[in-house]
Amino acid sequence: MKKLFALILALAMVMALASCGNTASDSGTSGSTTPSTTESTDPNAGGGDQPGKGKTVAIAMPTQSSERWIKDGDNMKAQLEALGYEVLLQYAEDDPQQQVSQIENFVAQMVDCIVIAAVDSGALTTVEAQAKTAGIPIIAYDRLLMNTDAVSYYASFDNKGVGTAIAEYIVDAKDLEAARAAGESYTIEFFMGSPDDNNAVLLYEGIMEVLQPYLDDGTLVCKTGRTSFEETCILRWSQETAQQWCENYLSGFYADEDLDIACSAFDGFSYGIRSALEGAGYTEANWPLITGQDAELMAVKNIISGKQTMSIYKDTRLLAEKCVTMVNAVVNGSEPEINDTETYDNGVMVVPSYLCTPVAVDVNNYEELLVDGGYYTAEDLAG
Ligand code: GAL
Repeated sequence: MKKLFALILALAMVMALASCGNTASDSGTSGSTTPSTTESTDPNAGGGDQPGKGKTVAIAMPTQSSERWIKDGDNMKAQLEALGYEVLLQYAEDDPQQQVSQIENFVAQMVDCIVIAAVDSGALTTVEAQAKTAGIPIIAYDRLLMNTDAVSYYASFDNKGVGTAIAEYIVDAKDLEAARAAGESYTIEFFMGSPDDNNAVLLYEGIMEVLQPYLDDGTLVCKTGRTSFEETCILRWSQETAQQWCENYLSGFYADEDLDIACSAFDGFSYGIRSALEGAGYTEANWPLITGQDAELMAVKNIISGKQTMSIYKDTRLLAEKCVTMVNAVVNGSEPEINDTETYDNGVMVVPSYLCTPVAVDVNNYEELLVDGGYYTAEDLAG
């Protein structure tokens, strides 16, 4: 009898606890369920309260030199403000020390949460530890924060998936299987991301997982011989460096033979590659396949005009939304939605993550994905 009573009591406690949990998520601050865009960004979510009221969120962004980060910052600021947060948004213009000072200031101001898209996460470990000591939670945005235990969550895209999507696009567009069967080959050069950005390493791995067999059997020919990550990575994702490299390649290794494929990891690189090709006299007749990443407005315009072949669409509205649910969770002591607990080992801990899905965009699907999806208007693209 005693046992039965204990069992009933235990059950009652479990049910009481479960209903407490529901109350927390009903308040609109939990993010433990899968909210739709409107639900999670609705300031009145959860019965009209503003979970951010009286709280300050600081956002440390890497640079305004690329359109995507401006969009990221704007989206997040707007979504957080709609929830009642005060938002401090700063850009470090690709200067790691400037970003350290900005975050030191955020810590000194005792903000309630810091969102960081790092310039060079290696430079941030000390200031991240200071934030942790001060009890300020940190969320890694798009770029993983390495070698720290001070990070609560990570919102990003499937970064290896970005690489495989780029490479699979090349395989399909050039029909590398048919080329292999016919004993034909294409020339290719690689322009990979910044060595201090974990995303760049993963992207490279994704690319090579798909393309390495074609390099091995000579279906793809890299005339510079630069195929390793170390040889192809470009510090701070510099457009100028990509352009210089491409100019050098074209005037040297490609003086007598066309470059068929520029495997670029970033739209910014693709702009530099475009300029180099134009400078070297390439025309529509021998224009190479050029990849990219971010589906920036200029890149999409280039895709429409045939100067870039594809890009990777990463919906920054969605990424911001996922990050905002994480902010809400850490500030209000609840659990956000995550979908990966294995991939993102930063050297000290595996960071619980939400990974959004990247999608290849080209001239055939940009209208459906980007215009119908409300990312750009037809006027944006026409102008
Ligand atoms: C990466 C990001 C890319 C691209 C690049 C350069 O970290 O994943 O989408 O934006 O930085 O800014």
